[in-house]
Amino acid sequence: MGLHKKPKSFVLRQGRITQNQKEALDSLWNKFVIEDISEINQFLKDKHSVLDIGFGSGETLLHIAENKREVSVLGVEVYLSGIGAVLSKANELGLENIKIFNNDAEDLLRKNILPSSFDEIIMFYPDPWPKRKHHKRRLIKKDFIKVINSKLKPGGIFYFKSDWNDYAAEVNSLFKEDPNWISAKEDELDTHLRNIPPTSFEKKALLANRPLHKIIEKKIN
Ligand SMILES: C[S@@+](CC[C@H](N)C(=O)[O-])C[C@H]1O[C@@H](n2cnc3c(N)ncnc32)[C@H](O)[C@@H]1O
Repeated sequence: MGLHKKPKSFVLRQGRITQNQKEALDSLWNKFVIEDISEINQFLKDKHSVLDIGFGSGETLLHIAENKREVSVLGVEVYLSGIGAVLSKANELGLENIKIFNNDAEDLLRKNILPSSFDEIIMFYPDPWPKRKHHKRRLIKKDFIKVINSKLKPGGIFYFKSDWNDYAAEVNSLFKEDPNWISAKEDELDTHLRNIPPTSFEKKALLANRPLHKIIEKKIN
């Protein structure tokens, strides 16, 4: 009992880190990366706050933080190359409203984040794990939706994008089955969540003619 380990949504690889990213990781880590969990809750406290789960190269969270400096933006990512890129850009833009956590977002949410912490949680183009035998690695599942719900403030928004038809269909039906959510439209969102520029993943999907799915859900309970 209790020894069952949930499969992870990522496989950690070193990946290629550019010189610029390496320098940013060395010099800016302490400024932007939070290691002490209590500091995360402190950073979010009494602020309009956004969580970006698996931010990749960070285009979206940088866009939000740059355009709404009064919003606190927390980004969680396991890959250091993306973190290096974000640190460098955040510093260049003089952003004071962005913090990074370098570990598993699901663990962080389940174990450490206080209830009702976020106004918005975004998850854009999570790894689709296309093979059926890997579907269990997908982040969005029935119980994870409950975790997300508990970490949102009343009326909070969960915003999901995917270019994988079956993943989007599955996520859509999970939300439909859960009475604690109601679908919302992009034009109902705060301005910082509207017309977000496409990330590199989105551009690749567009080039490959894959349809883009946006699922926007509002917490009602
Ligand atoms: C396909 S990329 C999408 C990146 C970005 N959101 C975008 O739209 O361009 C998915 C990212 O999620 C990250 N990821 C996957 N599982 C994660 C987890 N449990 N915690 C944090 N990051 C995770 C991966 O490292 C990867 O960078």
